[in-house]
Amino acid sequence: MKANTGEAIRLRRDLKAPTKRPNWPKAVVVRTLQPADATSIHALLNLGAAEYGGEATGFDDWWASLSTNPEFDPALCFLAVDEDQKILGVAQCWTSAYLKDLAVHPEARRRGVGENLLWHVFQVFRQRGASHVDLKVVADNLTARRLYDRVGMVAVAFDG
Ligand SMILES: CC(C)(COP(=O)(O)OP(=O)(O)OC[C@H]1O[C@@H](n2cnc3c(N)ncnc32)[C@H](O)[C@@H]1OP(=O)(O)O)[C@@H](O)C(=O)NCCC(=O)NCCS
Repeated sequence: MKANTGEAIRLRRDLKAPTKRPNWPKAVVVRTLQPADATSIHALLNLGAAEYGGEATGFDDWWASLSTNPEFDPALCFLAVDEDQKILGVAQCWTSAYLKDLAVHPEARRRGVGENLLWHVFQVFRQRGASHVDLKVVADNLTARRLYDRVGMVAVAFDG
């Protein structure tokens, strides 16, 4: 696990500016969360969190907190899956156009899965009429920050 400074940055993608259409790697498709996916998603998010100093959660607490959150909608939890239905990546968003969690399995990285999940998220929220999508990233998560920079996210004030 990498230590992190703990400093968080809020980033925003303005959806009035053009976005790209997803261009998924071969044999990768996107779908939304089904109840049977919950344990795999939880494991993937814990794996991702461990890399930048986030806290691991127990499954029951995580699922209870997620599924009872008034901003939770399984139709806004996007999964990139391969032809065997293996989950390669997840982007879980709140209804307020906030990307709560993004993680790609270590074996599926550097193929554009993360970037395409973001383009997909922007497309969906634009269709829902959102003006922007926000997220939070820890300052020293440079891999994620390069990715967010690439898709046009910029820092905003926390109350912005
Ligand atoms: C951050 C994260 C989601 C990125 O996922 P990813 O699927 O690897 O992202 P991408 O493939 O779109 O881009 C990653 C890199 O691969 C490169 N890449 C993309 N497609 C590629 C391809 N076909 N061939 C070679 N390289 C490629 C990108 O240019 C980028 O390079 P860089 O890191 O040098 O800038 C992933 O590293 C992760 O899950 N990290 C742990 C959890 C985390 O940090 N989440 C974010 C919290 S805010």
